[in-house]
Amino acid sequence: VVTAMIRPVLPRDTPELVALAQETGVFKPAEIVALREVLDDYHREAHARGHHAAAVEQDGRPIGFVYFAPASMTDRTWYLYWIAVDRRAQAKGTGGVLLRHAEDQIRREKGRLLLVETSSLPHYELTRKFYAKQGYEVNAIVGDFYSDGDDLVIFRKRLAE
Ligand SMILES: CC(C)(COP(=O)(O)OP(=O)(O)OC[C@H]1O[C@@H](n2cnc3c(N)ncnc32)[C@H](O)[C@@H]1OP(=O)(O)O)[C@@H](O)C(=O)NCCC(=O)NCCS
Repeated sequence: VVTAMIRPVLPRDTPELVALAQETGVFKPAEIVALREVLDDYHREAHARGHHAAAVEQDGRPIGFVYFAPASMTDRTWYLYWIAVDRRAQAKGTGGVLLRHAEDQIRREKGRLLLVETSSLPHYELTRKFYAKQGYEVNAIVGDFYSDGDDLVIFRKRLAE
């Protein structure tokens, strides 16, 4: 049972969120660098362009976060860019709480489709299971996208008829 609360991501969270993402062990070093830039951009200006970042806080510290934004040049399609839960807190429902928070917010903004991109590598298997359990379907696979043998897997969920 998750008794934690969801709140907006704040500038002072950045070091903890970057460390948390790194400690999951699934992201590449370049992705960790990109995450720091994404959070800095978010606080500087992206929040004003409709991007969202939310954290789950437990005992005064963030244990997970989600980042989502509209896909430009589309009719109400959104991207889930980041979701991560502290390694020690995984598999207790926190990721589901964060994903449903994103879906609810996107529905409030009349979003139609939500896409999530991930990798075909074995260490993302639990991540792919997570999306499947949350009602996402594999909609496209781009072979060898990240590197030879590492496909791009695009999950999709329809949020409105
Ligand atoms: C994917 C992630 C956000 C899910 O959050 P979570 O709080 O662990 O997931 P939940 O507790 O809500 O859901 C659990 C389900 O997700 C899957 N799962 C994902 N990670 C898991 C883990 N470390 N251990 C067990 N199950 C996991 C399982 O299918 C599980 O279902 P089950 O309990 O019926 O077996 C989280 O595990 C994580 O941060 N993973 C590493 C980062 C990552 O892959 N991010 C997405 C990049 S595209």
